[in-house]
Amino acid sequence: MTNTDVRKRKLASDDKSSQQNRRKGSPSAGNGNGRGGVTSGLKVSFLCLVVSVVLLLSVFGVYQLFYAKSAQSNLTKSSVLPTVSINYRSYNNKQQQKSQSGSGLASDNASPYLARLASKLGYSKVQYAAIIDAGSTGSRVLAYKFNRSFIDNKLVLYEELFKERKPGLSSFADKPHEGAHSIKLLLDEARAFIPKEHWSSTPLVLKATAGLRLLPQSKAENLLNAVRDLFAKSEFSVDIDAVEIMDGTDEGIFSWFTVNFLLGRLSKTNQAAALDLGGGSTQVTFSPTDPEQVPVYDKYMHEVITSNKKINVFTHSYLGLGLMAARHAVFTKGYSAEETFVESICVNPIIANRTWIYGNVKYQVSGKENSKSSAEQPVVDFEACLELVKSKVMPLVKPKPFTLKQHAVAAFSYYFERAIESGLVDPTAGGETTVEAYRKKAQEICAIPNDEQPFMCFDLTFISVLLREGFGLNDGKKIKLYKKIDGHEISWALGCAYNVLTSDEKFNNS
Ligand SMILES: *[C@@H]1O[C@H](CO)[C@@H](O)[C@H](O)[C@H]1NC(C)=O
Ligand SMILES: *[C@@H]1O[C@H](CO)[C@@H](O)[C@H](O)[C@H]1NC(C)=O
Repeated sequence: MTNTDVRKRKLASDDKSSQQNRRKGSPSAGNGNGRGGVTSGLKVSFLCLVVSVVLLLSVFGVYQLFYAKSAQSNLTKSSVLPTVSINYRSYNNKQQQKSQSGSGLASDNASPYLARLASKLGYSKVQYAAIIDAGSTGSRVLAYKFNRSFIDNKLVLYEELFKERKPGLSSFADKPHEGAHSIKLLLDEARAFIPKEHWSSTPLVLKATAGLRLLPQSKAENLLNAVRDLFAKSEFSVDIDAVEIMDGTDEGIFSWFTVNFLLGRLSKTNQAAALDLGGGSTQVTFSPTDPEQVPVYDKYMHEVITSNKKINVFTHSYLGLGLMAARHAVFTKGYSAEETFVESICVNPIIANRTWIYGNVKYQVSGKENSKSSAEQPVVDFEACLELVKSKVMPLVKPKPFTLKQHAVAAFSYYFERAIESGLVDPTAGGETTVEAYRKKAQEICAIPNDEQPFMCFDLTFISVLLREGFGLNDGKKIKLYKKIDGHEISWALGCAYNVLTSDEKFNNS
């Protein structure tokens, strides 16, 4: 099954051909040699040009006019993405840092006006990045097209490719070559999106998340090695650590970055908290107002460096609290590890032997009779299910994100999907819901013999417990749900692309 979705976004238009000619004529197009020289040469000549243009324009008093026009040619003001770059210093500064050039990342004070003028005049360079997200339920390729300005070296995102294939890489645990083939098909999509002449300067990475983290190590390694072979043959720029199981910390920080970048909140003071619910794990990431007040956060704090400031961010990936992992824990409660026929009090009694696959094991899940249920009116005993879910969730919420409630909350992935599928929020209006609304919806659905969505009662109950008892959010707390912001997919992949492009000197050639 493949979902296809190509998005285009142009923040400014015209001058493509003249820019291409310029690139062709410059030796910076292909090899690394002399790149810096050409770049700084361009910078100098560009600055001269800016100075004379500004002088001229102000002499003739048409500066205002020009500015208004150029601002208008961008779709809308809000569609101009903020030009920030991250250089994310993980591991609390204590452990080894990824190669950092420190200086020359992005200067802080170049105005968007200059950036726009630069792109109009062709003083920017196209930079691509291809990221493959090997998640537990599917693999996705996200390829980004950025402009990198020669004046301030900032990246501006303006086009994106997103394609997904199911099932996920971890379901090929015993067939690494078939697994690699599923990735090859996604790589082919990236090849079609990125012009051939850019392949050698495009970083290609695959990061696997919870699905692979939960596999036995040797099986996961075989899969990754098969992908490494595939990447070695690709003509993209592939680093030694390009294919790996991603740390939950990176996943949380990159998603948080993506959300706040797309919401334009990185340069503000109050960033949104990012809540991501995957199949195997769930991530909570936010920038606490006063981290010193909460000593338990200490081990989970990281410094994220954006172009104009450093932001201290809490992140944790709660392994086992992904939606599918939680189903597994609840459905198999009281059964031996080998048992695959299971009955659960969180499933309506009308459901009999419904096939559900988790971790390559095929389960037959049935509902369980209970005192509240009758033949005429089969229901789940909501209170009993709620208590069971709490008993499975609470021990895993360590550390508890006590101060999460102080922040605006942006939630995505399964938080979003289940809210849409259950009718909690309208897919077109999108939106906003509350912790209480999740629980009310759970209660409502648990009382309906819903044959089409046999696990929706459990899924919503789990989400409401996670948010309320687990993360300590009040009933009235607003949860903003997102799948896309401004046409861009919410994924850790964008944050990861930024990190690769800004922290690796190969791509950060200023
Ligand atoms: C990016 O570069 C393209 C040309 O390759 C140009 O058409 C576009 O306007 C630029 N966009 C921005 C935001 O600089
Ligand atoms: C599920 O299938 C098994 C084996 O075929 C059977 O023993 C069991 O009664 C079935 N469960 C339900 C609820 O129908």
